Amino acid sequence: MLNKEKLYLRQNIKVEPLVDHWYAWPHLIPPATLARNITERHLKIMESYMASPQIHANAVKNPKMLGGPFIDYSGRRVDEIRALRDRIKRERSHLIELSAALGNLGNMLRETATGFSLHPLYEKVPDILRGYVELFYDLNNHASFRLIEPLLYRSRYYDRSQQSLMLSAISDDDRPFVLSTPRLESDEGLHLRLPFDSPVVDDLFRLKSIPRPWDEIKAMLAVPDSYDALLRSFLTSAMPPSYVPYTGPGVRWRYFGHACILIESEGVSMLFDPVLSYTYENGISRYTYLDLPDSIDYVLITHDHQDHILFETLLQIRHKIKNIVVPRNSGGRLQDPSLKLLFQNCGFKNIIEVNEMEEIQDGAVRIAGLPFLGEHADLDIQSKLAWLVRIGPHALLFAADSCNIEPRLYEHLHREFGDVDAVFLGMECDGAPLSWLYGPLLPQKMDRAMDESRRLSGSNYEQGMHIVDSFHCREAYVYAMGQEPWLNYIMSIKYTDQSRPIIESDRLIKTCEERRITAERLYGEKEILIEPGSAFSARGSEVVGV
Ligand SMILES: [Fe+2]
Ligand SMILES: [Fe+2]
Repeated sequence: MLNKEKLYLRQNIKVEPLVDHWYAWPHLIPPATLARNITERHLKIMESYMASPQIHANAVKNPKMLGGPFIDYSGRRVDEIRALRDRIKRERSHLIELSAALGNLGNMLRETATGFSLHPLYEKVPDILRGYVELFYDLNNHASFRLIEPLLYRSRYYDRSQQSLMLSAISDDDRPFVLSTPRLESDEGLHLRLPFDSPVVDDLFRLKSIPRPWDEIKAMLAVPDSYDALLRSFLTSAMPPSYVPYTGPGVRWRYFGHACILIESEGVSMLFDPVLSYTYENGISRYTYLDLPDSIDYVLITHDHQDHILFETLLQIRHKIKNIVVPRNSGGRLQDPSLKLLFQNCGFKNIIEVNEMEEIQDGAVRIAGLPFLGEHADLDIQSKLAWLVRIGPHALLFAADSCNIEPRLYEHLHREFGDVDAVFLGMECDGAPLSWLYGPLLPQKMDRAMDESRRLSGSNYEQGMHIVDSFHCREAYVYAMGQEPWLNYIMSIKYTDQSRPIIESDRLIKTCEERRITAERLYGEKEILIEPGSAFSARGSEVVGV
């Protein structure tokens, strides 16, 4: 009987987490950054599309415009975009007011706070923000404000009903860029109005490994009968292969693409910056969701950029995560939301916040948070850490997009931690200008030349080589380059041989090889087993405690 048959969720069902139909990235969760993005990004893009749909249609075909503010619907869905725009304006009017209040507060402080007491200015704070902000000066009398973020999450400005999941089948790597185009309803998509913190989200993704009868699945997702055929097409009775964890000696690491690496050693599993491919037969070989342990001891996040915090992956593996480790933010800055609060409010448990130079220890495994400079357009953003993993004599440094703008830092760090066997470093040294990511948060438009000078750039050749040299690395891996074709939908980069990040990372690899340092730009998949008797362990390392 069909009703008794137990069914799994297919491995190629794509799940897009949405906020008001826009693809969810980290700034769309905290109420203040969401409010600014609604008015300064979403509404502006939709209104521009409604005015000139053909300009958008042409721009998305132009590789030079990749990642630009253009809607990718061939200019043909103006009515639906207008309806979405109208609905957002109607239903999110309080967030639209919050956005204006944040802009007005910034402007008021710039014009009014001249170094004298800020106390009289509290009554000039826009009414809806009163009680949610503290005003302060830096030591040069520049006034600013901090948000009392935990209170904002408890206010009507955090509205879980905006969140939903769109399910559809995927069979190849070809996915359009998602950050500039709202996701509209379609016949192929099953739109589940589930907030991200719903336990049903975990039950849904457990279905990838634990089957359930059709009736239970249908009741769990509360899908109307008219969607039965579509939902049934997302399910299968075929049991997926189960994962065999690594229990051998030493350390095994596997590269999944971009900055996503899984380490298994001494019974502890660690997954960095999870971004995973679905499982389908297409193109280059890769590890996928099927290559994750049933339980992951630590998921570690390096920083708050959309290619390092990907809800699409994180929500699907939330039920496997025992602990999620995040860098601590600076406390209330609009541009630096708390990652702890963000994950808490999205239903994650056991969130560990780590400061610079703090360490987590689990048996033989130690994970230290190292300072991560740059790559954030010189904004006061603290929620970024490189992770140094030490397991017995082995030391691996996951530096993500750390930009070595101050080489002395690594001299100090080497004094504290000693040599590192292998460094993993992003070298996206041609990053986007400040406004690409943070523009909606600014109360006033930034001068173009200033904007161009303040970029989200990682290390170049000299900066990267200095890190390799400072730690006397024996292996150097360039990663986090956004090159995997299955990640194009979230990256706005397409390199050629002439692109600076490729030229600079090629130079680093060549210099390393000349010095007999193993070096490679990771792409697709890679597995390395560090045996206890390998050169790593034979060498030992001198470590000064944190
Ligand atoms: Fe980054
Ligand atoms: Fe990155």
